[in-house]
Amino acid sequence: MKKVILTGLRANNDLHIGNYLGALLPFIDMAKSKAGEYQLNLFMPDLHSITTPIDHSKLQGTIMDNLKVFAAAGLPLDNSDIYLYRQSYVPAHSELTVLLNNFTGFGEMGRMTQFKDKSQRINAEAYDRTGAQDFKLPETPHDIKMRVAESRVSVGLFDYPVLMACDILLYNATYVPVGDDQSQHLEFTRDIAIRMNAKFGDLFTVPVEVKKQHEFFGKDQGLRIKDLLDPSKKMSKSDETGKGVIFMTDSPEVATKKIMAAATDSIGMVNYDPVKQPGISNLLQILALLTGKDPQETADEYSGQTQYGDFKKDVAKAVADFLTDFQAKLAKVDNAAILAKLEKDEAAMREQANATLLKVQQAVGLRPKA
Ligand code: TYM
Repeated sequence: MKKVILTGLRANNDLHIGNYLGALLPFIDMAKSKAGEYQLNLFMPDLHSITTPIDHSKLQGTIMDNLKVFAAAGLPLDNSDIYLYRQSYVPAHSELTVLLNNFTGFGEMGRMTQFKDKSQRINAEAYDRTGAQDFKLPETPHDIKMRVAESRVSVGLFDYPVLMACDILLYNATYVPVGDDQSQHLEFTRDIAIRMNAKFGDLFTVPVEVKKQHEFFGKDQGLRIKDLLDPSKKMSKSDETGKGVIFMTDSPEVATKKIMAAATDSIGMVNYDPVKQPGISNLLQILALLTGKDPQETADEYSGQTQYGDFKKDVAKAVADFLTDFQAKLAKVDNAAILAKLEKDEAAMREQANATLLKVQQAVGLRPKA
């Protein structure tokens, strides 16, 4: 049995350069260098996409657009060790989530940082919208009830980490390239796998611990690309203005403007120091990753400079060149090839996932033991 490397990227909005550098690039590097030796699963967590309020009429379009991004980023579509699939097309993900919910603590989920952050944001947005003009007035009590219910933090969001654990455990994945914001979910995946194995015998492969994951992917820590305008927070798909986010579909001109407007500091020296110079360090990180170098080595190239203009121009050029090349590839992606791969791989994944699900069903007493 080949070891499995697995990751997923949600289709809530256009993917951005943080998603690309944090998860997609390491996965695709592995797909190119390790297929043959490993099984590589790249999937679209479409069930995760609906854990926060979205425009459901756009979801199908975004899913297809993001799958095309995977192909344009270099995912080989013709390799039999590489699987591409949509989560909801493999029903075992939902089924195992229902089962593992019963072995997961309520408090354990409530402590998840992403849940706390996202629920705070949803609540704040709901509060901001109270009395806003975009609701038909006068609102009936039913309208109000529906509005409040829709803007609530959902049970789905609360349960997000269990579904994510199932995504990983169903395929016995060992390595999971994700950005730093997902480390806690990865730790939970290990916890629940260890807990289930202790109770029921060997059910799941336990993914390696987060630190070892970084070593495997050749990094010393998980990546967190920051918002360009506010480097105290991560670059995020849910940023409404999009001004601090470089989307993979931004034109090179738009991306250049965003980089040139990125927040820096008054120190005037290009140092890699994420604590004292978070804005500059973020730009260094982006430039280093796009040119295949180390951020410190990149910073050294600017030693002696006392202004940020030339440095920012170099970052903008690297990003614009990257986007030009990527978008040319995106325009050439063959939709039919993606759909054919999805159909074939989803059938194969249903078989693999069902085999793990059956082991769990047998362990908890829902199916007779073989
Ligand atoms: P999503 O779609 O929110 O993020 C996709 C990937 O992008 C990484 N990422 C970042 N990396 C660096 N800097 C950033 N600013 C940045 N923003 C996002 C995320 O860490 C992630 O790796 N829950 C997952 C999706 C998922 C998944 C899974 C991943 C569902 N099931 C099973 C792995 C295995 C997520 O955050 O998606």
